[in-house]
Amino acid sequence: MHIVLLGTAAGGGFPQWNCWCPTCRTARTDPGEARPRTQSSAAVSADGARWFLLNASPDVREQLRMLPAPVPAGVRHVPVEGIVLTDAELDHTLGLALLREARHLQLWATDAVHRVIAHDSRILPVTRAFADVRVEELVPDRRTGLCYRDGTASGLRVTCIPVPGGPPRFASEERPGHTVGLIVEDERTGGSCAFVPGCGGLDDGLLRRLDAADLVLFDGTFWTDDELIGLGIGERTARQMDHLPVSGPGGSLAQLGKLAGRRRVYTHINNTNLMLLEHGPERAEVERAGLVVGADGMRFTL
Ligand code: MLT
Ligand code: MN
Ligand code: ZN
Repeated sequence: MHIVLLGTAAGGGFPQWNCWCPTCRTARTDPGEARPRTQSSAAVSADGARWFLLNASPDVREQLRMLPAPVPAGVRHVPVEGIVLTDAELDHTLGLALLREARHLQLWATDAVHRVIAHDSRILPVTRAFADVRVEELVPDRRTGLCYRDGTASGLRVTCIPVPGGPPRFASEERPGHTVGLIVEDERTGGSCAFVPGCGGLDDGLLRRLDAADLVLFDGTFWTDDELIGLGIGERTARQMDHLPVSGPGGSLAQLGKLAGRRRVYTHINNTNLMLLEHGPERAEVERAGLVVGADGMRFTL
């Protein structure tokens, strides 16, 4: 299985257009020290030519240029076979409408996420005005085969695991399954990848699931719990926003640090997070624990 990190920033990207926090300033003046990043999304493929997106970001148009794909013979060519969603947040779903030219798309989402994009953000009916979109429900802990648009099996399977996380703020109802992590497995190679860009907490059960994956792509939104409050740009803690902070006791670094032998990479990194600085003490702390701060364009083969 081929995996490409298409985007590794949280909503707003890095630098964020209206932000002049220390890290956004650095990204503008010294991009070698703080590499710009697009909004979080990844692509997986069994054959390196036909891809499934894990979330569809508002930056999808530029991101698709990163995918290796053969020069097509025809006039139109759609390298995206389908999209698997972890939640209905705008930074993970606005890209659906931007893929409407595909004319035919497939989507995998939980019932809770499906309802929000159907009735609240209405991204699904808007996209459906242009393209035929087949939606298949993701049921927690049940494996689903990812098939190509022509109906043939790709050999990739996805399982969703509910993680702590509420609905987006524009959702009209609260149900289970608003936020899930994804485990993508390749039947042929046996390789597996966990994709968890939003996660409000880690318990032993979830850690065990992650420990079984060859590659773990995990929520790196905030460095500290009070990051936005400290900068004077927000009122809610990281945990209140359903993002377990990276640092500190009980933080994701301490917990993921225990999964030695697994490749562990942070993604969905907020523009304020100090681990974005290439040579800062926060980056060194992440690397000492054996983890990697994800960057756009990173590739893995499992
Ligand atoms: C999040 O990651 O918590 C959401 O994307 C928030 C947002 O889009 O504002
Ligand atoms: Mn987000
Ligand atoms: Zn910023």
